[in-house]
Amino acid sequence: MTTEMKKLNVLMCGAGEYTTGWTEKGASKSDKKIGVVGLTLFDLRRLGKVDQLSMVGVSGAKFPAIKKHFEENIAGVYKDMDVSFESFPKADNYNPVAYKEAIDKLSPGDAVIIFTPDNTHYPIALYAIEHDLHVLVTKPAVQLLPHHNALVAAAKKHNVVCFVEHHKRFDPVYSDAKARAASLGEFNFFSAWMSQPKSQLDTFRAWAGKDSDISYYLSSHHIDIHCWIMQGRAVPTRVVASAATGIATSEPYNCVPQTEDTITLLVDWQSLSSSKHRGTAVYSASWTAPLKSGVHSAQQWYYMAEKGEINVDQAHRGYDIVQDETGKAWYNPFYMKYSPSESGHFDGQRGYGYISIEKFIDAARSVNAGHVQPSEFDGHGLPTIANTVLTTAILNAGRISLDEKRPVNIKHTNGEWILE
Ligand SMILES: NC(=O)c1ccc[n+]([C@@H]2O[C@H](COP(=O)([O-])OP(=O)(O)OC[C@H]3O[C@@H](n4cnc5c(N)ncnc54)[C@H](O)[C@@H]3O)[C@@H](O)[C@H]2O)c1
Repeated sequence: MTTEMKKLNVLMCGAGEYTTGWTEKGASKSDKKIGVVGLTLFDLRRLGKVDQLSMVGVSGAKFPAIKKHFEENIAGVYKDMDVSFESFPKADNYNPVAYKEAIDKLSPGDAVIIFTPDNTHYPIALYAIEHDLHVLVTKPAVQLLPHHNALVAAAKKHNVVCFVEHHKRFDPVYSDAKARAASLGEFNFFSAWMSQPKSQLDTFRAWAGKDSDISYYLSSHHIDIHCWIMQGRAVPTRVVASAATGIATSEPYNCVPQTEDTITLLVDWQSLSSSKHRGTAVYSASWTAPLKSGVHSAQQWYYMAEKGEINVDQAHRGYDIVQDETGKAWYNPFYMKYSPSESGHFDGQRGYGYISIEKFIDAARSVNAGHVQPSEFDGHGLPTIANTVLTTAILNAGRISLDEKRPVNIKHTNGEWILE
């Protein structure tokens, strides 16, 4: 039976930079000063798509500062923004499983948006799905391929929407390039470069090199874009990884000894329509790029196929600003636009950071109303958990290749992707 679309209750998991714009050192100085998830959900509540909001971190101590930050920098800047939310845990002591209490308070059909450290995505997403909740999990969805397969199975069993927040799929240039690649014939070569300045090693100190690496953190973006372009046309078969080291582990960063600076994955791809066509992909990511380069994230890729090529440079979009104090900088208004509209309201509804979250909210609401089945989104080219399994396969294979110093094969057996 189909009904009208109801407003969605949403729990935000993680109270960090992406959700709130608030970091250990106060308001973030990056390109996410007031965050993305909280702001987008407050605006979607203003527009009638979202109802009750809650947020869970690992300690209640940070919430008074976060609430003040939202009051001043969101409610105080944009018109008609209700920035209220219920916070978990209530107590100030460290509690890494407070997400269970917050999830237990929700009802089937509500939603959970997860922006927590990479190694916590799997238990939180699984717990939410098993409570019949729709889930949007940030990239990298999980670190291990068996965990990804388990989430695909759980989402199917509980008939809920589970998307990975691969917002670059909604970048107008990337999505246009994806469509154009389809007419260029057999794939031949892909190369991607993404980097952030080495000051990020301070920002990421708590987990860098310990709980995740720069390939999971940054290459996940372009590996997903390439897998998306190749979906149904070719599959990855073999991964060899190489890493540069020595900067992160030296003064002044002194990261843990196993921290890599720059990770490169070399991946073989096999065409599904022609046994003689094979391609090569090189995905590189670094968090030891120079300071003051004018961009927060260098991000460029090159795609070559039988009948043409595509070049994308999303760090320099033909738009730069010079200020006496700081010099030249390239901004990215296609991602999040923070300046208010003529009427004084939030005006970033066309940014791909916003669209990515709105697509998930719309999907969950339409499933709740009985208009669509969650599995239908797999056929829409959206970053569903089922559509993103090869992204995790490549990232996981890369990690194994680095740790065990060997090539890793990706295979499809008994209806499932595995690593060998
Ligand atoms: N910052 C970015 O630009 C960005 C962009 C896209 C995706 N991401 C992804 O989002 C995730 C978080 O990134 P961030 O930059 O917001 O990190 P962050 O370090 O600023 O925040 C992480 C938050 O997660 C919370 N947390 C940790 N363990 C938890 C648990 N067990 N339960 C609930 N909360 C827990 C922490 O308290 C903290 O508030 C990462 O997976 C990252 O890859 C970040």
